[in-house]
Amino acid sequence: MEFANILVEKNEAIATLTINRPKKLNALNKQTIYELGMAFDLLQNDASIKAIVVTGSGEKAFVAGADIAEFADFDIQQGAELAANGQEILFDFVQNLSTPVIAAVNGFALGGGLELAMAAHFRVASTNAKMGLPEVSLGVIPGYGGTQRLPQLVGKGKALEMIMTANMLSADEALKYGLVNYVVAQEELLPLCYKLASKIARNSSVAIAGAIRAVNANFETETDGYLVEINEFGHCFGTDDFKEGTTAFLEKRKAEFE
Ligand code: COA
Repeated sequence: MEFANILVEKNEAIATLTINRPKKLNALNKQTIYELGMAFDLLQNDASIKAIVVTGSGEKAFVAGADIAEFADFDIQQGAELAANGQEILFDFVQNLSTPVIAAVNGFALGGGLELAMAAHFRVASTNAKMGLPEVSLGVIPGYGGTQRLPQLVGKGKALEMIMTANMLSADEALKYGLVNYVVAQEELLPLCYKLASKIARNSSVAIAGAIRAVNANFETETDGYLVEINEFGHCFGTDDFKEGTTAFLEKRKAEFE
């Protein structure tokens, strides 16, 4: 996979997507959003890949936001389209990906950067990371799902405080509010993500995909998440992974999933 603004590496069952515009602090321009969407889709359809780690190039930034230079002269219609297209191509797409996505937040994760990290299934940060939604300081609001996902993760009050003040959280504050699961030194960030990804890769990817759908259903207002869970649970009973997982347990051996 060759892209202009992202790097894709595969190591056994784990893929790493690196957003590679370090001179622009990995800001998400249209091309990068498009390439990320395409890469996530290709990896999701690659049966050998069981987990994806997404991170930023360089030591300073995960992603410093949507590329401000690109939308500075947009009108109302173009603004709405920017948000709608971005959500469809990348942000909602990542949230609903059947392959688990871990965001390795290695520096600034601002605006669209934090929104991308929040669309991932969970986040790990390095100690230098700073996270915020500074859009109102530019006269706009978060448009890639930030007003929805931030309250889900940190609660309504903290989310509104962050959005209204445009303040950044330190990595430790983000840990305290549940925005990230772990904080480690920068050199330990990818090793920890790979350790978690390897653990995930040993489990049933079919069951994990069902679990992602069921957990996501909890946040869809029109969906009965309990019903989704029942259906996904039932679906597992018809899979080879379920036969292998239960047989392996009864035979006192480790399961070998496909
Ligand atoms: N969009 C476009 N370009 C961006 C960018 C963004 N979101 N964030 C950083 N850049 C560019 C800068 O314009 C600069 O480019 P230049 O060297 O061609 O002038 C380069 O990345 C380095 O950024 P700089 O601001 O010089 O680094 P810094 O260390 O002084 O500050 C930040 C770092 C993250 C605090 C600062 O870049 C910033 O505030 N970025 C915007 C954050 C934001 O509002 N994001 C939400 C967008 S909706």
